[in-house]
Amino acid sequence: MSRKVLVTSALPYANGNVHIGHMAGAYLPADIYHRYLRLKGVDSVYVCGSDEHGVPITITAEKEGVTPADVIDRYHAANEAAFASADMAFDIYGRTSSPSHHALSSEFFLKLFHAGHIEKASTEQLFCPDCGRFLPDRYVEGTCPDCGAAGARGDQCDACGKALDPLELVSPRCKICGAVPTVRSTTHYFLKLQDFSGRLRSWLTAAEGWRDSVRNFALGWIDEGLHERAITRDLDWGVPVPLDEASGKVLYVWFDAPIGYISFSRQWAAGRGLPDLWRGYWQNPDAEIVHFIGKDNIPFHAITWPAMLMGVGGYNLPSVVVANEYLNFGENKFSKSRGNVIRLDAFSRVFGPDRLRFYLAATAPETQDSEFTWDDFAERVNAELVNVIGNFIYRTLSFASKYFHHAVPDAPLSAPVMAEIAASASDIDSLVERFRFRQALARTVSLARFGNRFFDDSAPWKSRSEDPAAAASVIASSIEIARALSVLLLPVAPSGASRCLAMLNASAEDRPLDTLGLRPPGPRPLGQLSIPFQKIDDAELPSMVKDVMGV
Ligand code: MF3
Ligand code: ZN
Repeated sequence: MSRKVLVTSALPYANGNVHIGHMAGAYLPADIYHRYLRLKGVDSVYVCGSDEHGVPITITAEKEGVTPADVIDRYHAANEAAFASADMAFDIYGRTSSPSHHALSSEFFLKLFHAGHIEKASTEQLFCPDCGRFLPDRYVEGTCPDCGAAGARGDQCDACGKALDPLELVSPRCKICGAVPTVRSTTHYFLKLQDFSGRLRSWLTAAEGWRDSVRNFALGWIDEGLHERAITRDLDWGVPVPLDEASGKVLYVWFDAPIGYISFSRQWAAGRGLPDLWRGYWQNPDAEIVHFIGKDNIPFHAITWPAMLMGVGGYNLPSVVVANEYLNFGENKFSKSRGNVIRLDAFSRVFGPDRLRFYLAATAPETQDSEFTWDDFAERVNAELVNVIGNFIYRTLSFASKYFHHAVPDAPLSAPVMAEIAASASDIDSLVERFRFRQALARTVSLARFGNRFFDDSAPWKSRSEDPAAAASVIASSIEIARALSVLLLPVAPSGASRCLAMLNASAEDRPLDTLGLRPPGPRPLGQLSIPFQKIDDAELPSMVKDVMGV
């Protein structure tokens, strides 16, 4: 049976436009992984969609004076389009407001409730006397009790990553009106995470392929002692708690959102007319589930969500949770409130998807935060994608076009070249399978450098008249390097790489990566040539940047 993988990216809240910081963290790496697996012939499905519940949505609606439904409709459409403009290959981009998602979320709640993993308790909550309402999660801000940072939200401190309860905040304030909240009691439902401590610990310890940082963060949480966490809220927006006694309460967004990975998989299967297809990924123990997230989502994906799956039973646990660090804007965080975000749609419109994807993959914040700067972006794209890779492919094909009748010459291939191609493909495979996309791309660039050196050292422009057979072999071999580069670049820069394959009159499908270099397609005419990747002109950069930032 062929390997089956279900790839997911954290579901973005439909309360704002996705920016390139999001793209670098949870979306591009997943897309590269998924596209790479497909190239290898692995049966991979990529699931994502909008997270449409919770306080992030209702706060945005209140600020804009519109309904939550207006907010999610607007941003769901906007984000789906932005991702499409960046060549994201989701198989489905679902919505957690959909009836089937609500139904599955209710089912999860009831199963956990009847299994005794959810208990009801009365609890103290912050209440705003001026607004006359409870203040869950982000409705309240204050100082982090752990690290002392100001501006910690009721659900989490962004500075230290600690998940919080609003009551723990020092000097809390109502986010809407600024009033000092009082404490009142209300009833909520709690997921008893402690029921799963042992199983979570052994699962995390045994799991393979995780980054140490992610595993240790999660194990650290368990060591501190898991306790019950409220999974309901006093809000009028979300999945209603499916119990008569709980009217007016909804499920906490972090309870329902990850269930979207399953409900969207089911929608995908239904959309293909094969309603049971999703089971092959979620209920077949040989399938792999790989979640890509930003580091702020680790507790939910490595603790709460697996605990829910354990309690409900019958579903695969995540195989790997791949969490990235942050991409910062220079030395600062991308921050909407501070007006320094680079929207994904605007970036793709002005620079095209390939240059963005190439740069974000080349500088991916895999093991530490990385910095985006416009100068570095232009320099890196020009130096590597344009001058090293694009130039190698174009010079090789132009030469073949000019001196070999616009065709791949019928000539023996150089053994050292073929060996280098095979070595690159195997290095890249092992890097991608360990989620080291940055190094994998560096290895691709190094194959192109090898190609340029081979071309220069072999000097086909000389041998062309002195020893035409030798020149033919150099060009046929260079074309194999160009073909390998195009295939290897498909997951990263799909538009340009596809154009290269068309010029090469080759297709990725007949040459899966594991046979790359072993079965060259042989002599054939070339397609129509054009420059594969356009240079960013220094003189035009400032106005392009203005165009991106001006939206
Ligand atoms: N919406 C959340 C965020 O942007 C991520 C949700 S991931 C899911 O931080 F698993 F819950 F869906
Ligand atoms: Zn208030």
